Amino acid sequence: MTTEAGAATHPLRTSRNRLKLGVFGLNVSHGCSMTDRPEVLKVTWPESVRLAQLADRAGFEALIPVARWKGMGGRTNFNHRNFETFTWAAGLSAVTQRISVFATFHVPTVHPVRAAKEVATIDHISGGRFGLNIVAGWNEREIGMFGLPQKEHDARYDVADDWLELCRQLWTREGEFDYAGPYFTSPGAYSEPKPIQRPHPVIMSAGNSARGQQFAAQNADLNFVIAKDVAGCAQIAARGKALAREKYGREMQVFGQAYVVCAETEKEAKELERRYVHETGDWTGVRNLLDVLIPNSQSALGAGWEAFAANLIAGYGAIPLVGTAEQIVDGMKAFADAGLDGITLSWVDYGAGLEHFETVLLPMLRQAGLRE
Ligand SMILES: Cc1cc2nc3c(=O)[nH]c(=O)nc-3n(C[C@H](O)[C@H](O)[C@H](O)COP(=O)(O)O)c2cc1C
Repeated sequence: MTTEAGAATHPLRTSRNRLKLGVFGLNVSHGCSMTDRPEVLKVTWPESVRLAQLADRAGFEALIPVARWKGMGGRTNFNHRNFETFTWAAGLSAVTQRISVFATFHVPTVHPVRAAKEVATIDHISGGRFGLNIVAGWNEREIGMFGLPQKEHDARYDVADDWLELCRQLWTREGEFDYAGPYFTSPGAYSEPKPIQRPHPVIMSAGNSARGQQFAAQNADLNFVIAKDVAGCAQIAARGKALAREKYGREMQVFGQAYVVCAETEKEAKELERRYVHETGDWTGVRNLLDVLIPNSQSALGAGWEAFAANLIAGYGAIPLVGTAEQIVDGMKAFADAGLDGITLSWVDYGAGLEHFETVLLPMLRQAGLRE
């Protein structure tokens, strides 16, 4: 697919939908639900292709994978099977038409000279539909697999700044140049071809801390945020957008994260959710996950631990869209009304969820003015 250099090609830049939509976690076993049910994601290539093509057909703007290297133990060993996100994105770019495909780099695991070239390559494969999610690295058990000690929180973002600066120069500078940054050096740096998207592909960052948000405001086209409710998302979004605009003179989109459980009645949907959280939920796995995020999570969180854990089991920390189709559409509208540019969705059963989205929710979202 040839594309005129410089033309906007990425759906996050070209979409006119009031609420943009992504599918989150399609490349990892169990997706975003820590529950032991037969319909969860298995992580096979035919499954990824089928679901990516369904999302493409239904008009979603983005496929956003989770970068993971090992599971969380427990009953499901949550996410232990996972496709490496760059090769996954390259493959899916070749079998989809319009949807953008993201990949996620843990900064400490890849040298920027290799990263910049992989990004440019997938941008060509996709005809300018590629997006790069940069994760500074938080999961010590995983970073440890690379034989690397985890750096202190804010220092990880300093490394990411330097990493991205070298990538940026490789994407934009002609000929050879010498690069010497605080963390990376590259004598005679050179990279061709340049990406199709100019000056570089869409960049996303998913950090929410003060330093993470500053990194996003300075560098990202899209900040992916997590909060316990829509109002919390709106607050983070307003702060991040203001920081990007006022301090760095840039526009930044902000996406929230939601999970969907839809049924004929609200009662039925809530019962479905209760069953997959409380009857088949992976409470050992979630404890392991929480203990990585917050050391000794149970004593640190006290009475709030169980609700936090239940939300992670239900949707990996996302905001619930649980109820009838009308309630789901109202819930999505609340994100748009609160100033979010988009959200990602996940389901226990991605295939059924995407089919239901296309046939039932999409016409309603059009009527509500959220999708064209
Ligand atoms: C919505 C969302 C998606 C994320 N996806 C990934 C991921 O795929 N892989 C990963 O290792 N970290 C992921 N993270 C973790 C963050 O990128 C980040 O490292 C973490 O939130 C800690 O950064 P912070 O302290 O600046 O918030 C995600 C975070 C959020 C909020």
